[in-house]
Amino acid sequence: MNEADVQSFWNAHPCGDHIVGGLHAAFADDYDRFFSAYDAWRYGRERHIPDCLDRTDWRDKRVLEIGLGQGAESEQLIRRGARWSGLDLTAESVSRVQARLTVHELRHDALKQGSALAIPWPDSSFDIVFSHGVLHHIPDIHTAQSEIHRVLKPGGLLVAMLYARASLNYQVSIRLIRRAVLASAYPLRRTSLAASSPMLRQHLTNAERTGLREYMRLDTFTHRNTDGPLNPYAKVYSLAEVRRDFPGFDLVDSYRRYLHAPPLPVHRLTAGRRLGWHLWVHLRAKPDSGAGSP
Ligand SMILES: C[S@@+](CC[C@H](N)C(=O)[O-])C[C@H]1O[C@@H](n2cnc3c(N)ncnc32)[C@H](O)[C@@H]1O
Repeated sequence: MNEADVQSFWNAHPCGDHIVGGLHAAFADDYDRFFSAYDAWRYGRERHIPDCLDRTDWRDKRVLEIGLGQGAESEQLIRRGARWSGLDLTAESVSRVQARLTVHELRHDALKQGSALAIPWPDSSFDIVFSHGVLHHIPDIHTAQSEIHRVLKPGGLLVAMLYARASLNYQVSIRLIRRAVLASAYPLRRTSLAASSPMLRQHLTNAERTGLREYMRLDTFTHRNTDGPLNPYAKVYSLAEVRRDFPGFDLVDSYRRYLHAPPLPVHRLTAGRRLGWHLWVHLRAKPDSGAGSP
């Protein structure tokens, strides 16, 4: 596992692109129509995001967003008054977000391609770092948190969304249902069943490559069952694991949202606060070095 694998995956699978049919395939590169469709889907399905953003005062704050995807929250932050800068590992995301900033005439400070492992800004540049659905995809999280600490002003805030360990998705869907479905389908992998779903077919191919038992190991199975079966890395978090992985920070707030546990049809249920997949954390930079050991 290295950063090149992570970069090539996200470059080839720009976050959420397929959900609305694809910028190139369904919208013929019409960015305006694509962003409208994407944002309508996103804030229809993940309705909690604007409320979660509103828990922070962004106005006139120097904000660095890490991991941009289609730039939906970038636009939300700018519209809430942030002095926004953005960073993404991939050329694809940076070019889409640049298009969004241009097409929607969004005022901003800077947009760069680069890594959270070597953030291309000087020390103490930002009041807030925001990162939605990204830090759990970074294998070397200790270096990333240390870099985030470095670019934050003393006492600055990291607001992040991480996947939640104590969620219906992890505890029931990934651990139990998805593994049971795969184990049942594996003996039938050479029949027409495998052709019935591209996703199932990819899981069966993956399992054949490594061996079923190895593929079902929970840590690696989690990688392949969060953002598609080719995703190289993902981690789930309890609050204890947040404290351990972010030793340069104090945890000052946390809340869970978004009942999402495919294939269970649970989106319309309202237990997201107890069993939600999205764990939002607010972490305050400690005055000492972010590189400090846990
Ligand atoms: C799951 S997407 C999330 C995007 C967006 N924040 C959202 O919620 O839709 C992860 C994004 O983080 C970027 N990313 C992954 N590792 C990164 C790193 N080390 N540094 C900067 N960006 C990274 C990927 O290129 C991708 O655009």
